[in-house]
Amino acid sequence: MVLVYASRLDPKPWLEAFGRLMPELEVRVWPEIGNPDEVEVLLAWRPPDDAFQRLTKLRFLQVFGMGADQLLRSIPIPPDLPIARLVDPDQTQGMREWVLYHVLRFHRRFHLYDRQQRAAEWVRLPHTDAQQRRIGIMGLGALGSDAARTLAQLNFEVAGWSRSPKEIPGVAAFHGADGLAAFLARTEILVCLLPLTDQTEGILNRDLFHRLPRGACVINAGRGGHCVIEDLLAALDSGQLEAAALDVFPTEPLPADSPIWRHPGITATPHVATIATARSAAGQVVENIRRARAGAALLNLIDRNAGY
Ligand SMILES: NC(=O)c1ccc[n+]([C@@H]2O[C@H](COP(=O)([O-])OP(=O)(O)OC[C@H]3O[C@@H](n4cnc5c(N)ncnc54)[C@H](OP(=O)(O)O)[C@@H]3O)[C@@H](O)[C@H]2O)c1
Repeated sequence: MVLVYASRLDPKPWLEAFGRLMPELEVRVWPEIGNPDEVEVLLAWRPPDDAFQRLTKLRFLQVFGMGADQLLRSIPIPPDLPIARLVDPDQTQGMREWVLYHVLRFHRRFHLYDRQQRAAEWVRLPHTDAQQRRIGIMGLGALGSDAARTLAQLNFEVAGWSRSPKEIPGVAAFHGADGLAAFLARTEILVCLLPLTDQTEGILNRDLFHRLPRGACVINAGRGGHCVIEDLLAALDSGQLEAAALDVFPTEPLPADSPIWRHPGITATPHVATIATARSAAGQVVENIRRARAGAALLNLIDRNAGY
């Protein structure tokens, strides 16, 4: 039996998808737990505080999204409980669109033409060919490698940075702490698609901004905890950074008095870069249930030691 804890979304499409894909599967929605010992799988973005005291017979915990930091950093999770995340094509497509939009906007300087239009200014800014535009993607996982591939196919000069070495056609790959400085030094438009871990928290900070070429643009769709906002504002105000696009924030929803809302160099969206849809992701949950019942390895497990 699957228990859905839908604090952030409408469970209906998920219930319909489970009914279609595995009609015999019993699905309950929190707080209608029934007998807690019957719950095999908890599907949640961030489980309620008493979840694991009550649900002691879980086979696995399935996260309602691609990132798991909100869960790993919340309540203590039984150490042996497997945690799976969703990695689905619709979500990857959504992030591809969001990243592409912001990269193209900065590359073609539409953020500056927007301002010029409002001031009735007819000024042709210098043009840079895609082949000469150096994009850097931090994180080359499901989302970052897809964004890097897509941008490379559009002829951009793309590099990526990850923890372990990678090979992606058309993408210059850097890795580890040793590879970071060279990666940053050649990056004019930086895209952060890292998971939030102890190692990556606050990584978008003053020091990093100053290792980018002057006038670089920063795009963050990872997590709000990656970016030190005061450092970002200072780098924008000093001209070290030209512009930033943010989808994620240290506090969400972003408070009404945050300077981010009104900063002319920042474009902000309310954590909408991409979202898991039941249509495309429910099949993965069902497949994991089948696997768990058969004692087979689960899909898309989180590495609890690495934190993602
Ligand atoms: N804004 C939104 O709407 C939204 C939606 C979905 C996800 N997200 C965020 O996007 C993140 C990435 O998702 P994903 O599915 O692409 O993650 P993923 O497949 O787990 O990939 C993570 C990538 O980051 C790299 N990495 C991790 N720690 C690192 C470190 N200390 N130094 C250098 N590289 C490091 C990994 O390196 P290795 O390849 O070497 O392991 C990997 O390439 C999620 O964790 C979530 O926070 C945001």
